[in-house]
Parts: sequence; structure tokens; C-alpha cells
Amino acid sequence: MTLGDPASSRRHLLLGGAIVGAAVVSGAVAAPTPDGRSDTAPRELDGQPVPEPSPAQSAGPITPGRGSVLQGKIAVVTGAARGIGRAIAVEFAANGADVVCIDICGFVSRASNAKPATPGDLDETVRQIRAYGRQGEAIKADIRDISALRQIADDVEASHGKIDIVVADAAIQRWVPLLEMTDADWRDVIDNNLNGTANTLRAFAPKMVPRKHGRIIVLSSMQGLHGTKDASSYSASKWGIIGLMKSAAMELGEHNITVNAVLPGLVDTPLTRYEKRFSETVAEEGQKIADPTPQQAWDIRAPTVPLKVGWLQPDDISPVAVFLASDAAAQVTGAEFEVTGGDSAKDI
Ligand SMILES: NC(=O)c1ccc[n+]([C@@H]2O[C@H](COP(=O)([O-])OP(=O)(O)OC[C@H]3O[C@@H](n4cnc5c(N)ncnc54)[C@H](O)[C@@H]3O)[C@@H](O)[C@H]2O)c1
Repeated sequence: MTLGDPASSRRHLLLGGAIVGAAVVSGAVAAPTPDGRSDTAPRELDGQPVPEPSPAQSAGPITPGRGSVLQGKIAVVTGAARGIGRAIAVEFAANGADVVCIDICGFVSRASNAKPATPGDLDETVRQIRAYGRQGEAIKADIRDISALRQIADDVEASHGKIDIVVADAAIQRWVPLLEMTDADWRDVIDNNLNGTANTLRAFAPKMVPRKHGRIIVLSSMQGLHGTKDASSYSASKWGIIGLMKSAAMELGEHNITVNAVLPGLVDTPLTRYEKRFSETVAEEGQKIADPTPQQAWDIRAPTVPLKVGWLQPDDISPVAVFLASDAAAQVTGAEFEVTGGDSAKDI
């Protein structure tokens, strides 16, 4: 399909749309759209047809819930054993997608403050996917190993016939001052987060090119938009992911593949649930409490956030990923989506 095919584009859109129903299928004239246009006619301006994107490039006609329809889509999510990756995988399934879940399910590096995920965690994600009646598959793999990712891409394509959506979520975080860090504190975080995300794109995007369709979503962070005291390698990796995302969007756009980044604020997951998390949260607000409880940390942080929350939950993040994965996001690419409870309004 090419751009500027006004004679047929609206017609195709509506033939593909859920609201058309039996009338169009049987060849009869369907009802006009609510905006009063004939549903088979191209858009017009001053009586002249106007150029429009092809149906494959269009967000489609307005239909209820179109920004969350993932029926029939095949998705791959890395870092799916827990946290935000799990929420995205499960919310994809809740909206109709089958999901291949990748996670290392174990030790990543000494340069990680989080406790390792387990095979049981990944199995639990798959259990939740199947509870929505969708296919879920658990694959233990390391995103630093591009050969393994390419093999998975081949296998998913062979078994499902296509790959529609890829979410590069897997990452680690390291808190250590620059002046104190070991080589691994820098190298492993960059290798895991930035190189691993690039590996994910490079392994799976080639499967989308021949089909002229794809949705790629990467996880960056608000720490990818500003510096982070004592977490420079994490911040640099997440900043790099934004550069990768924007470059990939420019290169893959001609193949009708969109690439976008989700930037969560502080989310309560094992990544952030390390020993000193609550005291650091309290200290960031200029207060000192020895061993604060989660409630104390929340109470101190929440007033500083526009929506008055101490932190978010993984399922506060996943709805944005669903929209970006949907056909309705056809013309959204190269963009950053902040989900922060409003923190980002004052951050940059
Ligand atoms: N939690 C937050 O506050 C927050 C904020 C901003 C951005 N993020 C980003 O969101 C994403 C998910 O974070 P989360 O909080 O859910 O973390 P998490 O630690 O709960 O989950 C991350 C998952 O990635 C997996 N993983 C890490 N390295 C891997 C590798 N090499 N190969 C395969 N799997 C690997 C881990 O095993 C784990 O299951 C990350 O990219 C993170 O940087 C999180």
C-alpha cells in the first residue's frame, strides 16, 4: 500500500473496522460514520479528495476501545518474569494478544541491586496470561546473547507465523558513586541495559520488515532524561535507550514499524525494592528517619508528586504499552511516554 490512495483508503479502513458489520460484508451500503461522511468515500476538502495514509498506516476509523485492541497479535516481552515486564505481558493478554515471555530468571551481574528473578516468577507470568485464555510461553534467555534472541525470533516466527509487538523491558540498576565504582558497575549496566535493548531490536525487527508492520516499545526511565546522582551507569544506559529508540524510529519507519519509549517514574518492583530504598526516598526529600517503613516513605514523598502518590505500581505503566502496541497508535513513533504520577512535570 502506498500513501495517497484516497480512492480506496477509507473504504478499506472501514472494511477492516469492527463497526462495519454484515451490511458491508454483503456488499450493501453501510451506515454513514457518525461524522456524517459516507463510509466508503475518501475524505474530501472543498470537494476535492485529500491524500490519506494507506489503511496499514492509519489509526483506522473511530471505534470504541480501538486503542486497546490486540486481538490476534503476537507479542514478545523481555524482562517478563516480574515487575513492569510482567504487567505489560499480562495486560497484552488481557487485551487479546498471545505473549512470548523472555527472562534470564537468575543472576545477571554483581552490578545489580535487585535480587534475581526465578523460573517460578516467569511461570507465574505465563499462568496469568493463560488465565485470560491467551497463549503464553516462558523462555529463559539472556538479552546480552544476540544469537539466543535470534534463535527465539526464528522459533516464534515458525510457531506463530509472525511477530507483531516487541517490548524490550529487561534491565538492571546500580547505585554507586562514579568515584567508587568498579569496571563492572559501569560496563555491565551499559552492556545489559543498552546493548541488551539494542540486541532485542536487532533480533526481532527483521521479522517485522517483510510484513510491513511492527510495534517496538522500549523501557527507558525519567533517569534517562536527567542525571542521577550515584546511578550514572543506569542513567547513561536509559539515556542511550532514548537515542536508540529515536534512531530506530527513523530507520524503521519506511517499513511501517513504530518504535517508542515508555518512561516510568518510581515504580514499586524488585528493581527498586532494595535495602536502602525507603531511607533514600526519605533522604531525597531532605528528611532523616532511621529505617523508615514503606508508609513513612510514602507519606513523605507523596506530597511532592502532583498526583500525590509515593510511587506507582507496574499496572499503572502497562496501559500505555497496550496503546502503543495497538493499531490505533499507527502514527505514533520516535516518542517518549512518561508515566510518573506527574513527577515529570517538575523533573525537566
Ligand atoms: N521500577 C522502577 O521504578 C522503574 C522506573 C523507570 C524505569 N524502569 C524500567 O522498567 C523496566 C522494568 O523494570 P522493573 O522495575 O520491572 O524491574 P524488575 O527487576 O522487577 O524486572 C526486570 C526483569 O528483567 C530481567 N532481566 C534483567 N536483565 C536481564 C537479561 N540480561 N536478560 C533477560 N532478562 C533480564 C530480570 O530478571 C527481571 O525479571 C526496566 O527497563 C527498568 O529500567 C523501572
